[in-house]
Amino acid sequence: MDLVLQFFSSIAWWGWILIVLAFVAIRDVFFQRSHTISHNFPIVGHLRYWLESIGPEMRQYFVANNREELPFNRIERGWIYASAKKENNYEGFGTDRDIHAHQHIFINNAMMPFKLPENHPHKIDKTFLPCAKVMGEFNKRKRPYRPASIINVSAMSFGSLSAKAIESLNKGVKIAGAYHNTGEGGLSPYHSNGGDVVFHFGTGYFGVRSEDGGFSMEKMVDLVNKNPFIRAIEVKLSQGAKPGKGGVLPGAKITKQIAEIRGVEVGKDVLSPPTHKAFSNVPEMVDFIEKIAKETGLPVGIKAAIGKLEQWEELADIMKATGKGPDFITVDGGEGGTGAAPPSFADHVSLPWVYGFSDLYRLFQSKGLSERIVFVGSGKLGFPAKAAMALAMGVDCINVAREAMMSIGCIQAQICHTNRCPAGIATQKKWTQNGINVPLKSERLAQYFKTFRKEFIEITHAAGYEHPCEFKMSDIEINVDDHNLSKELNGTFMYQKTPVPFKGVQHLKDCMHLGGVE
Ligand SMILES: Cc1cc2nc3c(=O)[nH]c(=O)nc-3n(C[C@H](O)[C@H](O)[C@H](O)COP(=O)(O)O)c2cc1C
Repeated sequence: MDLVLQFFSSIAWWGWILIVLAFVAIRDVFFQRSHTISHNFPIVGHLRYWLESIGPEMRQYFVANNREELPFNRIERGWIYASAKKENNYEGFGTDRDIHAHQHIFINNAMMPFKLPENHPHKIDKTFLPCAKVMGEFNKRKRPYRPASIINVSAMSFGSLSAKAIESLNKGVKIAGAYHNTGEGGLSPYHSNGGDVVFHFGTGYFGVRSEDGGFSMEKMVDLVNKNPFIRAIEVKLSQGAKPGKGGVLPGAKITKQIAEIRGVEVGKDVLSPPTHKAFSNVPEMVDFIEKIAKETGLPVGIKAAIGKLEQWEELADIMKATGKGPDFITVDGGEGGTGAAPPSFADHVSLPWVYGFSDLYRLFQSKGLSERIVFVGSGKLGFPAKAAMALAMGVDCINVAREAMMSIGCIQAQICHTNRCPAGIATQKKWTQNGINVPLKSERLAQYFKTFRKEFIEITHAAGYEHPCEFKMSDIEINVDDHNLSKELNGTFMYQKTPVPFKGVQHLKDCMHLGGVE
């Protein structure tokens, strides 16, 4: 024994390295058949896999320029981080954007900005920016709802996000007076920290699921009665990243608690079906919406990504003929985010937000329905100039998902589908989640929302308006080709927005249906 130990201890450190490399080389050549490169180039072949695995980080930190990355470039991310931390989010020396580039947005400023009268709500609170329309008002729901913030947290479930992330978002919306959309995973204790909640469900009916996997009205009513902070209900038809494909929650993310809330098995992939059990066609969907609204008293909306318009036209015709239908419609863009989706769907199925929304709005407007619906937009709209464009096109408020994630520390690692999120946001791993300081992160979300609203109000005033609902298509121009030509939105999308009835911000502040807390 002593001899053996003596022999091993006589081997120099570099000798050990050679021995390990020899073992790796033998394994590469003789014992593994799954990687051709490491078989053909033992040892060095591993470098390729390693370099490939750290490539995204290397490009993000060292190579990509400030405006290059997708979905969100460094300047966009930096603006959210700085806004959330209440740091200096200005830029010096002038824009670094090519303002002649295709699809660049311009907001037409007035010669003189809007002058705030004495005692105007914006003099008291520079971030007060509620939605100009009330959800459920036209359909006379029992509990109509005016979102107290024009920017809100979009659907992201407990499951796709961690408990600490959901808790931070919920506490953050409470501070900011915004709402928090639950996403498809049901209502969790982490959604129940006092912020307004929009309860969202898809084809999996998580949280309101009957024994046979269908929709349970009894559970829906019970949930709403027990949780008065639920202010509206959203039925998901589709989302921009994967229309026609149900929700996907990888087994790695399914803990005991998530399994209990959703009524599924621990550790097993949950694939929601592509279609709803509760309805099979447009008239049935309208009936379904009306039943939920009647039973719960809440405004009920639908969320979808837009492609073909035939069924939307059928919906509009039914709404016109019956006076029934959704109180709000959330339009998600093809550029929308997801916890997990096949690239073939995320990259190609459904239209980008500007095209999808303009198609839909034009259709509803042509039927005289645009005034009675609250339009919600989502798809990288969490920046004041983008939001100005969206409001000019007819949106009434916006939802943000990834921007909200970034405000609480997401670094755009783009591995939400693996349970390995390094920021503890899109993972169920306890260790990484524990890095999230909930009181700090909730303040950050709230601060991002407040900074967004403040800048949005300033842009609105610069354009000569009191509230962004007054933006018209002709207030925004967009570069439409490579020859430095820009066109007003109405010239590009071929409609004028229906003016939103607006009697002043004070009127919105005095509204009895205004949400938000304190
Ligand atoms: C992690 C994650 C989870 C999501 N989960 C849902 C969901 O459960 N239901 C849904 O309709 N959309 C879901 N979405 C889509 C977002 O709600 C939103 O519509 C989309 O990301 C566009 O907004 P954004 O560009 O601000 O991220 C999810 C997005 C992300 C990033």
